[in-house]
Parts: sequence; C-alpha cells; structure tokens
Amino acid sequence: MKKIKVNLGINSYNIFIGSNLLSKILQLYPEIKKYEKIHVITDETVEKLYLKNLVNALNKDISVTVIKEGEQNKSLETLQSIIKDMLNQNFDRSSLIIALGGGVVGDVSGFTASIYMRGIDFIQIPTTLLSQVDSSVGGKTAVNFNGVKNIVGTFYQPKFVLIDTNLLKTIDNKNVHSGIGEIIKYGIIQDYDFFRYIKANSDLIEKFDEEVIEYTIYKSINIKKEIVQKDEKESNIRMILNFGHTVGHGIELLGTYNLYHGEAVLIGMVIESLIAYNNKLICKDYYYEIKELVQEFISIPKISNEDANIIYSKMLNDKKNENGHINIVLPINKGEVKVFTYTDEKMIKTCLTGGLN
Ligand SMILES: NC(=O)c1ccc[n+]([C@@H]2O[C@H](COP(=O)([O-])OP(=O)(O)OC[C@H]3O[C@@H](n4cnc5c(N)ncnc54)[C@H](O)[C@@H]3O)[C@@H](O)[C@H]2O)c1
Ligand SMILES: [Zn+2]
Repeated sequence: MKKIKVNLGINSYNIFIGSNLLSKILQLYPEIKKYEKIHVITDETVEKLYLKNLVNALNKDISVTVIKEGEQNKSLETLQSIIKDMLNQNFDRSSLIIALGGGVVGDVSGFTASIYMRGIDFIQIPTTLLSQVDSSVGGKTAVNFNGVKNIVGTFYQPKFVLIDTNLLKTIDNKNVHSGIGEIIKYGIIQDYDFFRYIKANSDLIEKFDEEVIEYTIYKSINIKKEIVQKDEKESNIRMILNFGHTVGHGIELLGTYNLYHGEAVLIGMVIESLIAYNNKLICKDYYYEIKELVQEFISIPKISNEDANIIYSKMLNDKKNENGHINIVLPINKGEVKVFTYTDEKMIKTCLTGGLN
C-alpha cells in the first residue's frame, strides 16, 4: 500500500493506493465515523459490482443515488436528481458524499458536494483506471451543458481518496487503454524515467500486475499532485496536464472513431508530438519512441483532410485558447513540455493528416 498527501493548506488530503483497500476504509479514514449521514453516488454498473462491498465496509445505514452511466448523464438533470435525493434524506452541512465510480460519477459528485448548502465534505473511491490516475485527484468538478463539456463546474477538493486496484479487474479493454493514455502523458510531461518504466512494463500494466499497477498509479498521481500543488486553479503550470488534449478533444468531438477520452488523448499525444517534431522542438527518434509506445495500446487512424478540417475547427473552440490562437502543450525534451501558441493552420492540418516535414 502507498500513501500520498496532497498539500493544499486547509484543503489538504490523503490518498491511499493498494489492493483490497475498500474493506479497510474505516481504518484508513477513521474520520468517516464523525459523519451522521452518508450519501453514496454511483452508477448502474458499479452499483451491481461494488456497492454492497462498500456498505459492508462502512457498517452503517447510508442513502444512495444510482445515476445512469455515460458521459451524457454528467448533466444538470443528474445533479438535480442527486440534490432531490439528499433533500429527501434531510442531508445537512455535516453530511458526507461518497463518489463510488469512474470520472463521470466523480465529477458530478464533486460538483454536487461543492454547491449543496454551499459545500459539504466528499470523498472519492474511483473505480476506473482513468479516474484512479487522474480525475479523482486535483479537485476539478463539472457537468456538461448544452453540448459543451465541463462548462459548469468548480474547483473543490475531496477530503480523502481511496484507490483500490482490485476494483480494476472488471473494467473493459477500452477503459484500460483510456487510463493508460493519461499515464503515458505523465511520463512525457514530467518524467522520462517513468516513460521508460511504462515502456518496459506495458504488458504488466495492462494485466494489472499488483505491484506494477500500484507503482504506476502512485507515480501518476504523484506527478499530478506536484503540479496541482503549484497551481491549484490552472492559472499557469497546471496547463501542461493538457498535453495530448488539444488535438485529443478535437478528435473526441469529431466522434468518428468511437474513442474513449484517454484513447483520444493517446492519438492526440502522437499528433502533438509530430507538431513538435515538425517545428524542430524534439528529434525524430523521440517522436517515434512516443508513437511506438502509443501504438502498443491503440492503432492510430488515418485522418482525412475533411476530418482534419473539422478537428481543427474544434481545436479553435478549445477553452484553453485566448484571442483566437490555439494554445497547445508540446514536448520540447524528454520529460519536458511547454505551452505554445499557434496560428499556423496549414502546419497543424498537415500534422493531423500524419504529414512529416
Ligand atoms: N475532474 C478531472 O480532473 C477529470 C480528469 C479527467 C477526466 N475527467 C472526466 O472523467 C470522465 C471519464 O471518466 P471514466 O473514463 O472513468 O468514465 P466513466 O465514469 O464513464 O466510466 C466508464 C464506464 O466504466 C464503468 N465502470 C466504472 N468502474 C467500473 C469497474 N470497476 N468495473 C467495470 N465497469 C466499471 C462505468 O459504469 C462506465 O460505463 C469524463 O467525463 C471526463 O471529463 C475528469
Ligand atoms: Zn484527460
């Protein structure tokens, strides 16, 4: 078992990572006993798999909202249904929310916790690889609105995060690859040794070998927490966590390839590395090293000129942009990235369609 402390002053919290931790929640977070009421938010799949285990471990009466699964349910309607359930149970400021699920459950639960009675405590029990290495840590909460992703949200830190690697055994392959997208990202933005570790252990990571997956999640979160501690509300350095996401979001929004978020990020990282190579920021060998590692997990689609135009227009609408330029995070060295601003439409479209200079 590994422990990480996120140091954010009065908003500091602990994260525990290891196998079979769910049953030990009372020992790992004894403060939970002080809450008179606990409301668990989960989705239909996770409810069937793990809700009983959580209830047994808590050993007390709880109330539950089971939300419909899928990104389309990260919505204000879902938020309203949770708030109604909590009001029916007379939840007050001294109650606790537990998010048991992937990033959708985590984001909507965190958002609810941040606004219910102006903020109540919540803890995260992430159940997908992506939520264990990324979304459960850092305090970004959100729902989608009017077709715009994460447009309504808050920064709100959990009181505690419990990462039980045993829960990963039931996730499907696409969700595994989606999580690996974010893991590789951490290596590229900050830690080339970790990138090499992922490369050397890719099979064991995919199979959730106990020791390897625990270390991989630990390293990933440690990199994220160091960045979040320096810039909790994304005014500068936290932006580097968006490596692979400018192009990745464009591809996700295009919708043609049926990709999960982290899968789109995998492809986005290769294309953004190509942009870096074509602009002489990195050498050819490093570009191919990134591309080859990504290809162990996903095949990179050939993007047509027509799709490149659509992806580019989506990239122009990215939240990170200012004044009509595209802000994009690019590798400049092994384990190092920087934010760039581009206006060269032709160059970006050439890279989207796979063109090497
Ligand atoms: N807040 C942040 O910092 C942050 C960061 C990255 C992503 N996100 C958000 O996270 C969301 C994606 O999260 P996700 O990839 O976890 O997807 P998800 O929450 O939609 O879960 C994916 C699927 O896996 C199922 N599932 C969950 N745990 C399972 C388990 N243990 N076994 C079997 N099935 C299981 C779910 O029911 C769902 O069908 C997006 O909305 C994204 O915007 C947020
Ligand atoms: Zn992401």
